[in-house]
Amino acid sequence: MAVILVTGASGQLGNEIKVSSKNYFGYEYIFTDIDTLDITDGRKVREFIIKNHCDWIINCAAYNFVEKAETDYDKAIQINSFAVKNLVDSIKGTDSRLIHFSTDYVFDGKANVPYNEKSVTNPLSAYGKSKLEGERSALQHSASMVIRTSWLYSEFGNNFVKSILNKGKVNEPLNVVFDQTGTPTYAADLADTVLLIISKVIRNQIAFNAGIYNYSNEGVCSWYDFAMEIIQEAGLKCKVNPILTKDFPSAVQRPNYSVLDKSKIRENYGIEIPHWRASLKKCVKLLKSNSPKSEDGSPK
Ligand SMILES: NC(=O)c1ccc[n+]([C@@H]2O[C@H](COP(=O)([O-])OP(=O)(O)OC[C@H]3O[C@@H](n4cnc5c(N)ncnc54)[C@H](OP(=O)(O)O)[C@@H]3O)[C@@H](O)[C@H]2O)c1
Repeated sequence: MAVILVTGASGQLGNEIKVSSKNYFGYEYIFTDIDTLDITDGRKVREFIIKNHCDWIINCAAYNFVEKAETDYDKAIQINSFAVKNLVDSIKGTDSRLIHFSTDYVFDGKANVPYNEKSVTNPLSAYGKSKLEGERSALQHSASMVIRTSWLYSEFGNNFVKSILNKGKVNEPLNVVFDQTGTPTYAADLADTVLLIISKVIRNQIAFNAGIYNYSNEGVCSWYDFAMEIIQEAGLKCKVNPILTKDFPSAVQRPNYSVLDKSKIRENYGIEIPHWRASLKKCVKLLKSNSPKSEDGSPK
């Protein structure tokens, strides 16, 4: 039976993988997070992976504090890159496969057509730089897949959708930037995609093709459009004002445009990708029902 190790499993994506794993049975899943497997500890990582004969590693662990990374780069690079190298060193020369995640923030946002996997990277932020280094670490293993994703949200953890819902309930006007364009990604869709790819490969329905892939939901929007849709979907009345990035003080420079071209993952793995509005609707409905998914997929 194939053994699938999920690291950083208590985060947004890790939790969605736990939920999705109920639909992809017949494999042994091992879910770990920093308390059970700190991926910055190279010796423990190697021992754990060898002892448990892990065939697949899905690395959901990350340092995602975009603002804090500017002053805490050492921690960001340790988790986002050096720790990825620990995973790679533990499986190098074996048939085990690594699935690792990166970000649209590896781009500088100067494009005006969607970025594909060959587009030139040029991160503007410390976070983006640490994630780009992480991609390089992951790709030191010949059987690694790096999935770049953007604007991730889910019912789990902290994210833009939950923050807009919480602020919207207070009914005070919200200011949201309209000059940063990208695509939201429902972590549940990404989780399902990852497990679908793994199950197709295990069943020999498709060949595993290592390398970089893009995945977000379909469509394009600004953070302002995204916020408007969240408020409307939730039936809230709060006013949302479009503002320019220059009027929103931040120590971090973010890409103005970071839409990802998903042709490669669609064509290589036969993936169907939902539109961001359809997926947002599902997530807001779950959050509104006050019965978000628990890790075993049943209402909490
Ligand atoms: N969130 C986004 O908007 C976004 C956008 C683009 C790409 N991504 C990428 O998508 C992937 C999944 O993101 P996510 O939003 O699901 O992340 P998340 O919610 O922040 O989850 C990351 C998990 O990793 C854990 N972790 C941190 N350091 C660790 C360590 N040394 N060893 C083991 N676990 C550790 C965290 O624990 P603690 O909470 O205790 O730190 C947390 O449970 C990441 O690679 C991320 O960079 C995210």
